[in-house]
Amino acid sequence: MRTRLLSLAALLLSCLPVLSQPAQSRPLPNGGEFSAGDSMLRVTALRDDVLRVRMWRRGHAPEDASWAVLPEARTAQVNVTPTTGGFETATLEVTVDDKLRLAVTDRAGHLLQQDIEPVQWQGDRFRIYKRKWPNEHFFGLGDKPGPLDRAGQAFTMWNTDNFGWQESTDPIYKSIPFFISFTSGTALGVLFDNTWRSFFDFGREMPDAYSFGAPNGPIDYYLIYGPDPKKVIETYAWLTGPTPLPPLWSLGFQQSRYTYEPESRLTEVADRLRADHIPADALYLDIDFQQKNRPFTVDQIKFPNFSSMVSELARKQFHLVVITDLHIAKVPNEGYAPYDSGTAGDHFVKNPDGSTYVGPVWPGPSVFPEFTQKATREWWGGLYKEFASQKVAGFWNDMNEPAVFTYPTKTMPDDVQHRIDEPGFQKRTATHLEIHNIYGLENSRATYEGLLKLQPNQRPFVLTRASYAGGQRYAATWTGDNSSTWNHLRQTVPQLLNLGLSGFSLSGADVGGFAGSPSPDLLTRWLQLAAFQPIDRDHAAKGTRDHEPWVDGPQHETIRRRYIEERYRLLPYLYTAAEETSHDGMPIMRPLFLEFPHATTDGHPMDLDAGGGEYMFGANLLIAPSPSPEEVAPYELHLPSGIWYDYWTGEKLDRRTKTAARDLEIRDAAAATKPIMITPKLEELPVYVREGSILPLAPLTQSTEEKPQGPLTLRVYPGEHCNGSIYQDDGTSFAYRNGHSLRMSFTCEQQSNGQVRVHIGAHEGDYRPWWHEIRVEVNDGTTPAKTRTIEDAGRGMDVALQ
Ligand code: NOJ
Repeated sequence: MRTRLLSLAALLLSCLPVLSQPAQSRPLPNGGEFSAGDSMLRVTALRDDVLRVRMWRRGHAPEDASWAVLPEARTAQVNVTPTTGGFETATLEVTVDDKLRLAVTDRAGHLLQQDIEPVQWQGDRFRIYKRKWPNEHFFGLGDKPGPLDRAGQAFTMWNTDNFGWQESTDPIYKSIPFFISFTSGTALGVLFDNTWRSFFDFGREMPDAYSFGAPNGPIDYYLIYGPDPKKVIETYAWLTGPTPLPPLWSLGFQQSRYTYEPESRLTEVADRLRADHIPADALYLDIDFQQKNRPFTVDQIKFPNFSSMVSELARKQFHLVVITDLHIAKVPNEGYAPYDSGTAGDHFVKNPDGSTYVGPVWPGPSVFPEFTQKATREWWGGLYKEFASQKVAGFWNDMNEPAVFTYPTKTMPDDVQHRIDEPGFQKRTATHLEIHNIYGLENSRATYEGLLKLQPNQRPFVLTRASYAGGQRYAATWTGDNSSTWNHLRQTVPQLLNLGLSGFSLSGADVGGFAGSPSPDLLTRWLQLAAFQPIDRDHAAKGTRDHEPWVDGPQHETIRRRYIEERYRLLPYLYTAAEETSHDGMPIMRPLFLEFPHATTDGHPMDLDAGGGEYMFGANLLIAPSPSPEEVAPYELHLPSGIWYDYWTGEKLDRRTKTAARDLEIRDAAAATKPIMITPKLEELPVYVREGSILPLAPLTQSTEEKPQGPLTLRVYPGEHCNGSIYQDDGTSFAYRNGHSLRMSFTCEQQSNGQVRVHIGAHEGDYRPWWHEIRVEVNDGTTPAKTRTIEDAGRGMDVALQ
């Protein structure tokens, strides 16, 4: 913080003349309006720690509507106190100068954000420049490739089907215009709610400035104050909605390929998974299961018994996910119901001359639903009726950037007309330039809401490729067409971390890589790592070699199986983390700085030391793959200060720095400890447990449908703030909303006589779990671990282990 305060002093000196001259202002109960020339700036407080900034010219306030921000958050307000240069809330101080330059300070006097120039306009195009501190780091912006920290780079938001993307490719599939600025442990979130082809520059153009802007659309952004980065995440979830609780099966292992066909091949894969005892929950059908690539059809020749096949798979405890792309084949008079009913209902996107826009995709000439209309989304949702009645469990919305095979733009022409007809919006037409980036979001919304309507008591599972901010409300996501290379395996970490920070907690990357064929070692490494990532889906492109866990012989298969099995043992922990996400948006996969924002003495995010390889899986497990996974050379493990335990061996690693050891209250404020060297071995993925963790584990099952046999295990790692919890429910329905769930909390204490006392909380909620007994296992670095198994009558108890 010291650097920032020094910069603040220097800044104040340089800016005094302007800051002392306020713009013409009109106080509002919840903020202020400031004008200069023909420009108007309105800054309002939604909460004491959330500001909304809007600016316009010539008296035309842009429409106050959003696809991303929840109406209840957007209309929230708190009273503010006017000041000479602006106003203040209980947390923040806002100052606007005569050139409408905005500065936001927290009440402790830390300058959080400051415009360094007036907004730059060129016609409708605008750009906002903010001061960038030398030690400022940036995270978020969804799945954009490249390093975790966005500093020094520039990005464009334009959902793009970028097959074969590489580390430097931008843009790819999603546009999530949300980022977190992190300076010396202080975090500020910025959501730039503009759906056009917006752009972001984090110090690439000028080292001491970052900027964002758009070619058109509103200046409309939200500032979310931490200072703790977790607080920013929680508030972003308040603003745009958290990820709903997913069906439990979607957290199991998922096996996919482009395409398992015919029916017998899919069945063969299912049977082999079971025969080889590789736990798995989901199988996918890609486009070739359809008739002539037409969405919502089934190729009766390749899949003659589709309905009974789905039931048979269900009997074997597999959930089937099928692809349902959004392009509808333009085939009049062929009895293709989606085209016929969509045409009758006028549900397709139009050209400027009023004719229906037609573009080539998988089925050939195709038409595109007008997802910006509520009525169209309802029609689309109804298309799932038959699959839903056949008990297809999940749906995959691909190609929804939207991808169109017209090069070089790979999408619809800019002037295609969308007819917005949507509660909360003016009924109007908009060009594709405005709608493009939210098209995938609204497609996944239509699917999610349609499924809910068809099966009101079943949690939908939708996987989408394209999206916008807020899309986490409707779908899980994946990083599109990655490649079978070591570099892409490494990329999964920063991509999934930044997705998690951008609201998308439920995300995965194609395991093994989509394009190309992974070497046996690469596939093994990938299957290991993905076992500790939120969505674990093995997928492969057409024409590539097989990717299933068994394909490289028994030695590889043994390693791969072991990691997938561990994921299944950890499902209670993972599901509990997913439930947490559904309240506060906390991602399942977390960068170190989220858990340890003060881990370094100079305040830089610790992730940068770890070379982007390490991350937290939930709050307690630190996953430490090599940052160069193809290399056999030893690599550095950086553990935040404290006591850590090796997840696999129970070995205790005392990594407390002197400061932390002196004052155990400050668990992460100390200097980084010296790295430990790890020699990679193919069969090992290093995983560490934070002291004070209590991990809930289940007996191994082959699917989430199988009832675990045996006790719930509580693996206790004594230490500071020792606690844990478990959340359970039926895994599929919404009964939990009526209290039909189970929650238990645990704590532990180390006593002076060496005993560890574990307090097991009473059951909350009336869901009856699989276990009758709890096996408490204390790992304090001594071997063997101390264990005791006790009956769980649900009333809570204390257990002492010596
Ligand atoms: C592109 C998707 O990214 C990929 O996962 C899928 O297999 C193909 N489309 C075919 O549907």
